[in-house]
Amino acid sequence: MKDYKREIAARLAALETIKNAGLDEQGVYSAIEAPKDAELGDYAFPCFRLAKALGKAPQAIAAEAAEELADPCAQATGPYVNFFVDRAAYGKDVVTDVLSKGTGYGNSALGAGRRVLVEYSSPNIAKPFHIGHIRSTVIGSALGNILSFLGYEVIRLNHLGDYGTQFGKLIVAYRRFGSREEVEASPITTLLKYYVEFHGQAEKDPSLEEEARAAFAALERGEKEEQALWKWFRDESLKEFTVVYDMLGIRFDSFDGESFFSDKMERFTDELAACGLLVDSDGAQIVDLDPHGLGKALIKKSDGSTLYITRDIAAAVYRKEHYGFHKNIYVVASQQDLHFRQWIKILELMGHEWAQDCVHVPFGLVRLADGAMSTRTGNVVFLEDVLSQAISKTKEIIQEKGVVTDDVNEAARQIGIGAVIFQELHNNRIKDYEFNWDKVLNFDGETGPYVQYSHARAASVLRKAEEQGLDISPNALLGLDDYGALASDSAFALARLIGALPDVIADAGEKYEPSLITRHVTDIAQAFSVFYHEEPILSDKGDARFAKLALTASAKQAIKNGLALLGVSAPERM
Ligand code: ARG
Repeated sequence: MKDYKREIAARLAALETIKNAGLDEQGVYSAIEAPKDAELGDYAFPCFRLAKALGKAPQAIAAEAAEELADPCAQATGPYVNFFVDRAAYGKDVVTDVLSKGTGYGNSALGAGRRVLVEYSSPNIAKPFHIGHIRSTVIGSALGNILSFLGYEVIRLNHLGDYGTQFGKLIVAYRRFGSREEVEASPITTLLKYYVEFHGQAEKDPSLEEEARAAFAALERGEKEEQALWKWFRDESLKEFTVVYDMLGIRFDSFDGESFFSDKMERFTDELAACGLLVDSDGAQIVDLDPHGLGKALIKKSDGSTLYITRDIAAAVYRKEHYGFHKNIYVVASQQDLHFRQWIKILELMGHEWAQDCVHVPFGLVRLADGAMSTRTGNVVFLEDVLSQAISKTKEIIQEKGVVTDDVNEAARQIGIGAVIFQELHNNRIKDYEFNWDKVLNFDGETGPYVQYSHARAASVLRKAEEQGLDISPNALLGLDDYGALASDSAFALARLIGALPDVIADAGEKYEPSLITRHVTDIAQAFSVFYHEEPILSDKGDARFAKLALTASAKQAIKNGLALLGVSAPERM
């Protein structure tokens, strides 16, 4: 589609006034903004920055530029030159672009030929997959979708927390008071119970901690019995995680987690030692990052066992060597900021130039209305339960509302799960937020159900048109003589939001911020709702009716494409 802003920038940059101020086209382009008041124009060029170079007041410069343009669509208002676009031509451009590209509307080849790794979710096995994990899972998955839509080749990684001293604890707990039947009946709840029990008993009897350390060391040495227990815990946990991933419609290319790197560690501790980075501290090996303001990173404990950060160093090098990458992205809570800063610094100090291509994408906490969640106390809200509840609550709501669907269970699934994902991706990711059922499932707020409902409403208008025997294929909608019906305020506002979607997607990819898309599809849904209420669509006649149907079909497509990137489905009926 024509880049209107670019065209205005080119026209302005050609003016004597602007040239005299030493501003080039790119400078003009980035200065152009949306007018504070839509009545004043569609694009505004502020002249403040030119005042110094020209030695004139911005108002005078704006007036001069407008005079030089000699176009009734360009007017000086105070210090701004405001531009009006031809709304019908703009509307035609937008619908043509959307309907000819369809599900590809908003994509680009920005990342063509470049591979990006996105690591997300990465839960700890034998521990509940709880509501706190949802953010990494859905933010990461959405980023994968967005980057892939922008042309990157995306590889999706789950760095399972399947190693570490906690497995020593679990092995000891299982041996002391576990039963195979109990674990098989309900793996994670049971393992969690053992883990909690371990901590309870270890408070009274500290020798348990010692025993756990020994069990973990045995696991690291590859002792058969410890290995078998560990593998069993892992398999059972992964089964439970998979249920949740399936519910969310989320997938991975690899589940190589911490254990995968456990036998590849020596090379790195050797390398660190060879670089002179490793120092002895009471028998343990550390990297002293104090000179960089990052404290000390423990690399190897005095009993020889390695740590989380050691495995992350090994994992990064493995990713570079095995996959190669343009960017290596980690979607992990901001609580781990220090860990990732230490880790990147160590990679840098080891001389890996590609450390700068490793990106930690942090996010804030999610809290439930009734307090914090902690694994230690066993007071945990399982994600699977949250998703099942979302589905059953949605089913109640849609039955109450008398929503017409082909299959109420499938509709409840799409809307309920969609609502949870949408809510997670609605806030700027770095913000903490509180999970609240009333907000998540509100059909009228800035929610998933609301946006899905707008999509279904557009679908319903198009269905009715077809029932009336109208041809609403893209070909029929794109060959009109007159798109004048798209010049109304509500149609133009909607067209502009739809037209902005590709830039919003690119921006979301660049900033690793899916919420930009969540908010934008919400804006499109709201603008569609205004358009739908203000404009007769099916009852209109001639080209006007088809132009409005074209805009309706475009709004539907734009919402659907945006939601798809978030991982939210767009039902045809609601
Ligand atoms: N398993 C960790 C946790 O649950 C998250 C892992 C993040 N990824 C990484 N490469 N360190 O806290």
